[in-house]
Amino acid sequence: MKSLDKKPSDSAKSGKKETAREAKKSSISREQALELLKKYNKEPFHIQHALTVEGVMRWFAKELGYGQEEEFWGITGLLHDIDFELYPEEHCKKAPELLREAGVGEDMIYAVCSHGYGICSEEEPKLEMENVLFASDELTGLIWSCALMRPSKSTMDLEVKSLKKKFKDKRFAAGCSREIISQGAERLGWELDELFDKTIRAMRSCEAAVAEAMEK
Ligand SMILES: [Fe+2]
Repeated sequence: MKSLDKKPSDSAKSGKKETAREAKKSSISREQALELLKKYNKEPFHIQHALTVEGVMRWFAKELGYGQEEEFWGITGLLHDIDFELYPEEHCKKAPELLREAGVGEDMIYAVCSHGYGICSEEEPKLEMENVLFASDELTGLIWSCALMRPSKSTMDLEVKSLKKKFKDKRFAAGCSREIISQGAERLGWELDELFDKTIRAMRSCEAAVAEAMEK
C-alpha cells in the first residue's frame, strides 16, 4: 500500500475559507486538452479514467459553488495523469514539462502535480479544487471497481452502503489506497460518507457521457 506520511496542514484545510479571488480560467481549450491527453495516452483505461475524473471535477465545481470555474476544474481532471502512461516512474515529475510545452498555465500545472502529494510530488493541495482532485482521483477507481461487480456494471444503482463495505475490505481493489481516500476526506473536512455520497453522484452524472466518448 502506498503511504502518505504527510498530514494536511491547517492552510490545506482552509479550502472553504478561500478568500474572494478571480475565477480560474484554463489557458487551453477542452478540445486542445483532449488532443494533448491522447497524444500521451493510448490505453483505453487511462482515457476512460481521465474522462471520468474530468466529469467528476465538473460536477464538484458546480456542487461546491465554483460554477464559473467548471472548465478549469474539468480540464485539470482531464489532464491530471497526463504523464502516467509513458513515464510511470516520473509521475507528476514529467507532467509540468508536457503541460508547459502545450501552453497550460502554471496554476493548472500546480493543481495537476498536487494530486500526487506525499507519494510522487511535493506540491501540497491547497485550493478546494486541488483537494477535491486529490480525494476523488483515488476514490473514482474504487467506485468504478465496485460498479463493475454489479449486474448493472454501473454507478447508477451503487449505494454508499455497498461502497463502504468494499472500502473496509482491503483485499478488494487493493491498489486503491484507502489511506489516500481517508486523507482526502480529512483534507476537505468531510466525513468519509459525505465524500462517498458526493463522488458517487458525480460519477453518475458523467457515466453515460464517458461511455459514449469511449465508443467513438
Ligand atoms: Fe488519476
